Amino acid sequence: MDRPSWAPGEVDLDRPSAARVYDYYLGGYHNLAVDRAFAEQAMKAMPELPLIMRTNRAFLRRSVRHLVGTGIRQFLDLGSGIPTVGNVHEIAQAAAPESTVVYVDKDPVAVAHSQVILEGNPRAGVLQADLREPHVVLDSAPVRELLDLDQPVAVLMFAVLHFVRDDEEAAASVRRLMGALPTGSYVVISHGTHEPVGERGREVERLYTRTDNPLAPRNQAQVAKLVSGLEPVEPGVVFLPLWRPDGPDEVDDHPERSCTYGVVARKP
Ligand SMILES: C[S@@+](CC[C@H](N)C(=O)[O-])C[C@H]1O[C@@H](n2cnc3c(N)ncnc32)[C@H](O)[C@@H]1O
Repeated sequence: MDRPSWAPGEVDLDRPSAARVYDYYLGGYHNLAVDRAFAEQAMKAMPELPLIMRTNRAFLRRSVRHLVGTGIRQFLDLGSGIPTVGNVHEIAQAAAPESTVVYVDKDPVAVAHSQVILEGNPRAGVLQADLREPHVVLDSAPVRELLDLDQPVAVLMFAVLHFVRDDEEAAASVRRLMGALPTGSYVVISHGTHEPVGERGREVERLYTRTDNPLAPRNQAQVAKLVSGLEPVEPGVVFLPLWRPDGPDEVDDHPERSCTYGVVARKP
């Protein structure tokens, strides 16, 4: 297969990647035949997957706007993915132009495409790194240049911690990052769960073992544990549509169909 111009040499063209599969669910075009075939198979088990991803992006929008409203001006977006419509810097800088954003992803396509769309934006940068190595992220050039770690930072972990299979490793990643940041910092997490779908979810989990990003769905109590020691803001750990919907039109009668919990928590 010919390598597309946007796929760096290190990309294995024969193996689906979570970043590119997610791009396909959202209707993007930075994906390969192997990703599309994989996504179609996953959607046979769970046809609601594209809806789940759109619900996740809507939570991203609402929570980032909320944080700007509380005065946050610095964002560290971990597992930021391939840029799509409504990226964190666009939302934050539209509300508060001085906001700074560092995107971090381990996927080379996500990083390369982020570099392209951030060209000419002096307040946003990107880093290729693994969130399980918080010291690498915090000591990196983009973080040092764009974030003042003596001032509150919002650490964003949208749809990424369910790719960290080890419970303690996932919790430690949050703990170490938040431990390095001052009082008044926040973490935002959205996290997949099988609770509402049972066997269909387990089928998707089995499929993801074929990617570099096997899934680790967690239940509500396990997601709450990821923010222990922090103060979840109202309404706590809830299915995404229940987290501060924008208005009556956004109220969803079946929030559990999002199969994803969301939480915003503040460091006391
Ligand atoms: C489902 S996408 C979510 C993208 C974006 N955060 C969103 O919610 O729209 C998950 C992203 O996390 C990245 N990822 C998975 N594990 C990671 C890790 N350990 N460190 C950094 N990025 C990771 C993947 O490469 C992928 O781009």
